[in-house]
Amino acid sequence: MRTPFVAGNWKMNKTVAEARALVSEMTPALRAVKGVEKVLCPPFMALVPVAALLQGTDIGLGAQDLFWEAKGAFTGQVSPGMVAEFCQYAIIGHSERRAYFGETDETVNKKIVAAFSAGLTPIVCIGETLSEYESGRTAEVVSRQIRAGLKALPVNLAPKLVVAYEPVWAIGTGRASTAVDANVVIRDHIRKPLAEMFGVETAQSIRILYGGSVTAANAAEFFGQTDIDGALVGGASLKLDDFVRITQAAVK
Ligand code: 13P
Repeated sequence: MRTPFVAGNWKMNKTVAEARALVSEMTPALRAVKGVEKVLCPPFMALVPVAALLQGTDIGLGAQDLFWEAKGAFTGQVSPGMVAEFCQYAIIGHSERRAYFGETDETVNKKIVAAFSAGLTPIVCIGETLSEYESGRTAEVVSRQIRAGLKALPVNLAPKLVVAYEPVWAIGTGRASTAVDANVVIRDHIRKPLAEMFGVETAQSIRILYGGSVTAANAAEFFGQTDIDGALVGGASLKLDDFVRITQAAVK
């Protein structure tokens, strides 16, 4: 069985002081939720202080991105090794990075390989834009993102992957996908190509999350689907009660 997985992507929200306050408030309630892998992904600046607050808890820490090179003249970038000093996870290929910062399937692929080399678990984001959705290209887009993003990944690493299906039109819009539709995309157009690349058994072991306007009110419906193993939560992960309730809804 796949262990349910819920991660909060704080995006560019919360100063260090604000992040510390929210994490301190959230930690007791999150720790009480058992049987779910729980991860917080605050901005880079807050990773070090939040790591200290999470020490000794069962709550994981993730960066929202990383660069693929190990070190050197890459002004402004953060290496996998730097992230791994404090984190266990890294979000890679988020649609906002694809849309605003030139992320491509090729850079996603390099980052995934680099994240694994540093001992991190990549949370790989894929999903179609509104125009791709409206023109019926969802299947083609997400399967291409999977095949190109995970190209040449060694089979033994694949089970450690976490994939997040985030339809771009559902992110921050309040217009979530229906749970049934998201499950069909995940089962037929994400898990199936994964099976073709890595074998059926491995594909069955990979956690695939849904993301895009997940709330405390709709989370259980997603988690009740056969192929949805959790959520990557944006806006609602900044609200203590909402994020705790979403995490509770993931308990099997
Ligand atoms: P929202 O939950 O705010 O729609 O954001 C989803 C997301 O992009 C998580 O990575």
